[in-house]
Amino acid sequence: MLVRNFIFWLSGKKSVTSLIARRGMKHGFARRFVAGESLGDAISASQELRRAGRTISLNHLGENVSTPEAARASRDSYVEMVRELEANHLQGNISIKLTQLGLDFDRALCQSLAMEIAATAAELGRTIEMDMEASAYTDATLDIFEAVQRQHKNAGLAIQAYLFRTEKDLARLAPLRAKIRLVKGAYRESPQIAIQKKSDVDANYKKLASVLFEGAARGDFLPAIATHDPAMLAHARQEIARLKLAPKQYEFQMIYGIRRDLQEEIHAGGHTLQIYVPFGTDWCPYFMRRLSECPANCWFVLRSLAAESFHPPR
Ligand code: FDA
Repeated sequence: MLVRNFIFWLSGKKSVTSLIARRGMKHGFARRFVAGESLGDAISASQELRRAGRTISLNHLGENVSTPEAARASRDSYVEMVRELEANHLQGNISIKLTQLGLDFDRALCQSLAMEIAATAAELGRTIEMDMEASAYTDATLDIFEAVQRQHKNAGLAIQAYLFRTEKDLARLAPLRAKIRLVKGAYRESPQIAIQKKSDVDANYKKLASVLFEGAARGDFLPAIATHDPAMLAHARQEIARLKLAPKQYEFQMIYGIRRDLQEEIHAGGHTLQIYVPFGTDWCPYFMRRLSECPANCWFVLRSLAAESFHPPR
């Protein structure tokens, strides 16, 4: 937790993030978690994943835009991503962040842009997923998700096991019969609203996974178990066996570049595995969250930066 808080603190330091942003792609360490800076890079990475039997969810990195023009540009980019998936015959979808569509300053605009993206996807017979961001956005995200899903019936939503409210939110979501991506939660949240201890978050993750799987047996949810934690994966597999769920009634999801050994194990077990494939120039905040989840990642960044200090690029 200490290291995690330290990395969250560092991610607010412009001198650190701009050093990482300047060097990360050039020296390759960002490529471990980010497919590249362009949509073309992400499509190439996705084609490779398809050959390995994975489905994908493309994510154009970026968050918290502050003008309507930037929000509309994000909408255009998401629409282009859906069309590129179709043109390249790639199985999968896109993951969107509502703060990229103006949620901070114009909720109505944000909702209408999300509707447009879902409409384009629906025309092509495709789905979208909504990421869940920090808790300040949870209510608005649920509302917008609900509106989009009612209208187009092709949306999925991430929910976070560390929030106390999540079990109640699941009861609200059940009638929508949507894909629900269960994650532990990646933001720093206060003890008033979020579980702080890892073992307690893990216990709640298992409890919510069971709620989702039981809902899947009734047809209420398509659970997407999004984690790299072997204990969570073992629990999910037990529940799938207990409830005798067929592979099309659930899926697993993991992040590009993380625990490729587990990715292979899940795929070899005959389960659907969707890989979250992030790309874009604004990759630094995402990259810092991945560092905060696994302190060992910091060493390879530091090694890479130190190597450069001894062998500066010409
Ligand atoms: P945990 O953090 O306990 O890690 C378990 C093990 O996994 C570690 O011991 C390590 O081996 C490995 N591991 C985990 N993270 C690693 C990393 N960065 N580098 C290397 N190894 C790592 N969050 C959110 O708030 N909103 C969202 O919309 C999403 N969306 C999302 C989609 C998908 C497909 C995934 C897998 C995750 C998210 N998340 C997310 C992130 C999620 O909340 C969480 O922060 C990370 O998945 C890390 O938690 P784990 O469940 O993997 O377990």
